[in-house]
Amino acid sequence: MDKQEVRQKIESLVDRLNKYAHEYYVLDTPSVPDAEYDKLFNELVQLEGEHPDLVLEHSPTKRVGGEPLEGFEKVEHEIPMLSLGNAFDEQDLRDFHRRVTNGLNEEVVYICELKIDGLAIALTYEAGQFVLGSTRGDGRVGENITSNLRTVRSVPLTIPEKRKVEVRGEAYMPHESFVKLNELREKNGEMLFANPRNAAAGSLRQLDPRIAATRNLDLFLFGYGVWELDDIPTHSERLTYLTDLGFKINKEWKKCHSIEEVIEYVTYWTENRRSLSYEIDGIVIKVDDLSQQKKLGFTARTPRWAIAYKFPATEAVTTIEDVELSVGRTGVVTPTAILKPVFIDGSTVGRATLHNADQIRALDIRIGDTIIIKKAGDIIPKVVRVIKEERSGDEEPYEMPTHCPACDSELVHLDDEVALRCMNPNCPAQLKEGLIHFVSRDAMNIDGLGEKVIEQLFREQLVNSIDDIYRLEKEQLLPLERMGEKSATNLIQAIETSKNNSLEKLIFGLGIRHIGAKAAQILAGEFETMESLQQATYDKLVSIDEIGEKMADAVVHYFALEKVSTLLNDLRELGVNMTYLGNRRTTDETSGELIFANKTVVLTGKLEKLTRREAKEFIEANGGKVTGSVSKNTDLVIAGEAAGSKYDQAKKLEITIWDESQLEEAIKGVST
Ligand code: IVH
Repeated sequence: MDKQEVRQKIESLVDRLNKYAHEYYVLDTPSVPDAEYDKLFNELVQLEGEHPDLVLEHSPTKRVGGEPLEGFEKVEHEIPMLSLGNAFDEQDLRDFHRRVTNGLNEEVVYICELKIDGLAIALTYEAGQFVLGSTRGDGRVGENITSNLRTVRSVPLTIPEKRKVEVRGEAYMPHESFVKLNELREKNGEMLFANPRNAAAGSLRQLDPRIAATRNLDLFLFGYGVWELDDIPTHSERLTYLTDLGFKINKEWKKCHSIEEVIEYVTYWTENRRSLSYEIDGIVIKVDDLSQQKKLGFTARTPRWAIAYKFPATEAVTTIEDVELSVGRTGVVTPTAILKPVFIDGSTVGRATLHNADQIRALDIRIGDTIIIKKAGDIIPKVVRVIKEERSGDEEPYEMPTHCPACDSELVHLDDEVALRCMNPNCPAQLKEGLIHFVSRDAMNIDGLGEKVIEQLFREQLVNSIDDIYRLEKEQLLPLERMGEKSATNLIQAIETSKNNSLEKLIFGLGIRHIGAKAAQILAGEFETMESLQQATYDKLVSIDEIGEKMADAVVHYFALEKVSTLLNDLRELGVNMTYLGNRRTTDETSGELIFANKTVVLTGKLEKLTRREAKEFIEANGGKVTGSVSKNTDLVIAGEAAGSKYDQAKKLEITIWDESQLEEAIKGVST
């Protein structure tokens, strides 16, 4: 064969193999025997081996897993990946229906779908090619797991549609693969995965795609982000369209014309879900008509046009082997029951919350008791009741301690609360929990500083309070368990990056009582700098919408503490940003206009310190418009690292180009 013939042969093999794979993995209706597939596959492997320059990007041989990565890149979702509100019973569903019909004043059709219990992912296609696969992450920023998702056979590597489209769905591990994987792990003496969802998540977060490739993951798609395709007006038609493009859509979706029909679907699947070869944890109900969806809109976090019905918690019987105490961030001492492990709803459970002493007394729980536990969704199971008939007489009543298990200070009941609290502000358990909170995702979001690392840093006395985090040096990290050169470097970098977080993350991270992520956001937006928040009076605070009396009180008390001002001064000196970056408005000193007034700005390349979204929000808040491509109408291009063609285009058109530091300067500039 000459080169041209080989090329054609390879192309035809790739097309045929991809077609067969689609039939097998997506449609579940193979048209050729496995042996035929294997024969063609081997033929392709051989040809590709002889002509490595002719290997196609979408060749099925390229699914087996590329080179390991050093870490996952962050990807900002152009359209946030939201989650859904929950319904737990028929009444909740009827309430949802009432809200929908009140909001629309017209007939509504619903689409019911199975709620797949896996990991939310997004797949982006450009010019017909699969170019990006990502996790949901916190909904705004996820991780680039393209090389792992390529190994999932039902992800088409090409689609017959050249316009950009982003499809969303759930990656999961089928029951059979889960059982096999755990059997293998047990044989190899490795830790078992608690349930298929954890196994799927663990597999997709492997840096080595060759491992993901062995895990037999699968996925179902049920949504979309960026949609540059024709404007298809209903969800159901979009599902059909996506099916036609080759995407794997779960077949069980159903159009329902009334809430009765929805309830029927829900009842059917509540009874029959065990017949499926994968785990589902509920039913998702969506308004079919996209213009109706638009009309209904969103609440802060979830769409008003959809809801997730969660299956009722399943119960199981086990025994209490011990009671363990933990001290939380605010000093509350919580008892946890240590159980004889029991399998419930797809996972092995070894602990159950007991809440507090009253609960233990009310349920008359004794060590050694046989109990019924109940698992509701993700939450740690609860003890429903003790089966007293099973008692042998050897069970031991449990008394709550009078002193803190961590620091031995006397425990108190505050303001008639049932909870027992340790009031020692220097209690090591509280300090440690406070640190864990500080680095958590909604707070300073320091990657690589998980609970285990914090525990070690705390034990080694390298970090005793928040500010110590910013004094850490790489050399101090290296001796820690499971800390290599690379992870130490990454951790130091993540700590450094977190210094540039917008104010709300720091406020939330401080762990002020009653101030959750949302309140922190409101306070940051309102006061814009830590200094002005520190000086805020009670009256000023309660005058803010959504800041209640308890919150205002807690804020004033918190900032009055001397150790808090010392901490904040230290953090400031260590370079931690104390200003709000979201909607800050910066004016030009001479003209007095907003700095980006009437300017069309293009962002290109990778920004180090801000996410794309933050930069965009900042520009828009300051009068500018952010567009995607450089043209003669562009006023300014902000180029991060590795800026490509847009940078060149801007040069050619002689458009002003800023680097990231100039944007930073603008952000730090005078604010009004
Ligand atoms: S629709 C705007 N449909 O459940 C939200 N979600 O809280 C669109 N999930 O993280 C989500 N099966 O990953 C939708 N058929 C389905 C689903 C589904 C599973 C997951 C999804 C999301 C969570 C909802």
